[in-house]
Amino acid sequence: MINHLEIFTIFPSWLLTTSSLFFISIIFLYTRTSKLPPNPPKLPIIGNLHQLLGKPRHQALCHLSKQYGPIMSLHIGSKPFLIISSPKMAKQVFKNQDHLFCSRPMSRATGLLSYNYLDIAFSPHNDHWRDMRKLLVSEFLGPKKASSFNHVLATQIKHMVHSLSLHSPKVSVNLNELLLETVKGLVCKVAFGKNYREQPIKGPSWEVMLDETMEMLNGSLGDSFPWLGRLIDRLSGWNDKLERCFGNLDAYIETIVDDHRNQRNAQLGDDEKDFVHTLVELSTIPDACSGYRLTKEEVKAVIMNVLTGGIDTTVVTIVWAMSEIIRNVRVMQKLQTEIRNLTGRKQMVDQVDITKMTYLKMVVKETLRLHPPAPLLLPHETLSHCQIGGYDVLPKTTVLINGWAIGRDRETWGENADEFYPERFENLEVEFGGGNCEMVPFGGGRRSCPAMNMAPTTVETAIANLLYGFDWEVPDGVKKEDLNMEEDGCIVVRRKLPLYLVPIKHM
Ligand code: HEM
Repeated sequence: MINHLEIFTIFPSWLLTTSSLFFISIIFLYTRTSKLPPNPPKLPIIGNLHQLLGKPRHQALCHLSKQYGPIMSLHIGSKPFLIISSPKMAKQVFKNQDHLFCSRPMSRATGLLSYNYLDIAFSPHNDHWRDMRKLLVSEFLGPKKASSFNHVLATQIKHMVHSLSLHSPKVSVNLNELLLETVKGLVCKVAFGKNYREQPIKGPSWEVMLDETMEMLNGSLGDSFPWLGRLIDRLSGWNDKLERCFGNLDAYIETIVDDHRNQRNAQLGDDEKDFVHTLVELSTIPDACSGYRLTKEEVKAVIMNVLTGGIDTTVVTIVWAMSEIIRNVRVMQKLQTEIRNLTGRKQMVDQVDITKMTYLKMVVKETLRLHPPAPLLLPHETLSHCQIGGYDVLPKTTVLINGWAIGRDRETWGENADEFYPERFENLEVEFGGGNCEMVPFGGGRRSCPAMNMAPTTVETAIANLLYGFDWEVPDGVKKEDLNMEEDGCIVVRRKLPLYLVPIKHM
């Protein structure tokens, strides 16, 4: 006889077993009846990880997609991925079903570095993301800041040209360093104004801090292998490195915010206020309509996005453009003729001149087609079950859109897809984020880069001025056509080796 007490102890385990079996069979049936995209054969525990080693990730994925198709599923450990590798499939994601593909996956690094998803880039799709993105566009990237942006851009470029003209003849310049100084100065002066500090007061240099942040954002073993991976993250020192990296970045951002808080905003004219003044103001005075006040964490999270999203991407684009231009003498001559003819005899090329330079715009487009700085964009995540290309995609799948493979798709770009040939845009109406997703260097849909219209201006202005006042040569012993074009990096992919070129002042 089972007494009352025994019934109470048996009942929960019986219930637990039955309900577990029920849920397991539902999941089993769901995955069995779903038509999932083709997937390369995977190994137990690690999944497809071994197929991604030895090459940059976007190249390895492009290679696999040639075998398994433009829509492919993968597993890294226990984490499911969907890989999109053609314009047609990208269009289905960005144009037809953007509302289902517009969230972001969570990870330990993005969580910590975004102040618990209070930013724009790593926040899941929600009202908070929408409000913060609107704020960034209206107060930093939109027409409100256009005049101060153009003014600072002109000053930075003038400074760059001046430092080049003082350079000893026949000595090569590290273009990565030169352009980092220029773009960092531009973004930080527009965002932080006079309070911009060249280097943090304490801790590592600004460059080291940013490199470490990008490395951490790339993720860790713990994101894909919950138990063992987290243990390895702890034992290998990855967790400590992440905490240290966040500590340094936070201390730098905190100083910027405090400097702004200590100023009396009321005494500043509208044209003297920078982006952080506006953010700090919104954190002290409640919004007139909603009554909402930004928290200090929200302010810092947006600044983190500007620092990590706005500088490296722009520098990398200009350096790739200069690398392609130097390797292609014909392109260099044609571009210099356009720039010099349309500028006339002036000290510098300005914004008005640039609007007339059609070949320059083609060169920038061709650079972003072949070398999108973020080749896999930022990972997207599905919000619910959806279908694409006749296949089922499960909720909470991480979606990698291979912008690098899309820009080199032979069906779209023809047999010379791998060649740097700006003239292909002469009779082709292709815009960034355009309807057919032929190239997606700024992503697409609602999560596309909010600087998509503004960033090319910086790139065009820098290239025009580098080529207007100077002719360029490769250092002795290097052949132009043999210039090393290997790639390196995780989220942002740059040249493996810095670009050294010799400037020759043009009379
Ligand atoms: C040539 C320069 C740039 C390139 C190639 C670029 C590229 C990208 C890409 C590929 C994405 C992800 C899109 C997606 O997931 O679909 C992105 C997102 C983003 N970018 Fe840029 N970017 C550039 C410049 C900038 C600048 C100057 C800023 C700001 C100062 C910026 C801020 C952001 C932000 C905040 C996001 C996240 C958007 C969201 O999740 O809603 N980017 N960018």
